[in-house]
Amino acid sequence: MTSTKPELRIFDADTYANGDPTTYGLPLDQYAYLQDEEPCYLQEFDDPILLDRAWVVSRHADLWAIDRDAELYAADRGYINMWKFTPIDPVNGGKPCMLTSDGADHRRQRGVVSRGFTPNVVKKLEDRFRGYARSIVDRALERGTFDFARDVAAAMPIQALGDVLGVPEADRVKFFGWVDTFSAPFDTRITPSFEQVIRAQAELTTYATELLELRRREPGDDVISQIVRAGADETLSEDEVMGTVLLLASGAAESTANALSQGMHALLRNPDQMSWLRERSDDVPTTAIQEIVRIASPFSHFVRTATRDHELHGKQIREGDKILMLFVAGNFDPRTFDQPRTFDLGRDPNPHLAFGRGPHSCLGKHVAALEMKLLLEELLQRTTDIEQVGEIDYVRDQFSHGVYKLPVAVTPA
Ligand code: HEM
Repeated sequence: MTSTKPELRIFDADTYANGDPTTYGLPLDQYAYLQDEEPCYLQEFDDPILLDRAWVVSRHADLWAIDRDAELYAADRGYINMWKFTPIDPVNGGKPCMLTSDGADHRRQRGVVSRGFTPNVVKKLEDRFRGYARSIVDRALERGTFDFARDVAAAMPIQALGDVLGVPEADRVKFFGWVDTFSAPFDTRITPSFEQVIRAQAELTTYATELLELRRREPGDDVISQIVRAGADETLSEDEVMGTVLLLASGAAESTANALSQGMHALLRNPDQMSWLRERSDDVPTTAIQEIVRIASPFSHFVRTATRDHELHGKQIREGDKILMLFVAGNFDPRTFDQPRTFDLGRDPNPHLAFGRGPHSCLGKHVAALEMKLLLEELLQRTTDIEQVGEIDYVRDQFSHGVYKLPVAVTPA
């Protein structure tokens, strides 16, 4: 049991901006306290852009159960996370998408989009992804000293997801620039004002309309073309087509980039694990990618709504109450993970929650894993040493667990 109550500031963006690099930038003692003493507690928020209140659940077993129980914990009753604004929440003025649907509605939308993510489709992407990884590493080696977060981690998903989504090469930097802006609304270095978040969302929505038009005229085997086809035969409504494009744009790039940066930082802090991975750099094992995603926990939480009154850990939950699934805490729960604070690339089993575990579990997890694997393979094969040459600088945000800067120097092989 945790003996003393730490000051609880898990929803304060500064906690993450000033995160402790020895605990992955996360307030792990605060999470442990919650799991021991208050596994379900009512958090009140005092900010017009955040929810009024939510029940925060932090133990792995509870999170696993809640995420799988769409009947008691609905996704279609408003809000995705602690933010009140999002372009993909139809209950609050946004477009509908699979992440905010349940039951047959959810299955229909997920079914259509998942055609763009079959193992065959992902396999076909491998050669192109490897090409992107190679050229990113080429540029990094030319520089010698660089910012891993911006120059390497962020560069990979821009190209890879550009392909998956079918965004023309020339538009990729602009497209993911909008995504960056609304993914970090609390970090003024990335998003100087809340108005810019709204503007970026509007610009992305306008661009998405143009992209859909382009793919109508020139279809490919990318996901947007799949969505356009489903729109044409009315499997998806016009609004769902737009919602799906916005969902894919907003969820996929930041998360993968953050996992790569957090993973590199953990490797730099754990030379034994770096050596272990170097020895396996011809075929980076799945366990390594899963462990990186666990410690990175790129999205700290998601929110559901209780569909009826019930009790959880002695607390009376009412129908309509918001439940905040603190996945990041669950990923460090000692009830489930042996030595949860240890970075162990061979960890197996590793039932982490970073991709979710229920009907909404991440549809792009194989794409994300492939991007990470190929990038690490290229980087480790073509260097003999990677050294951290400056402090890690975290993004100021409580939802997305991001790295703003990670200065490194490499020695070419
Ligand atoms: C390391 C990178 C990523 C992480 C950590 C991540 C994490 C997540 C999480 C936690 C969820 C919600 C799970 C739940 O509520 O149970 C989710 C949903 C989703 N993710 Fe990812 N994601 C990543 C990358 C991607 C990529 C690359 C794509 C697409 C190319 C993608 C597409 C989606 C979609 C479409 C959903 C909604 C699924 C549904 O509602 O049925 N994600 N992701």
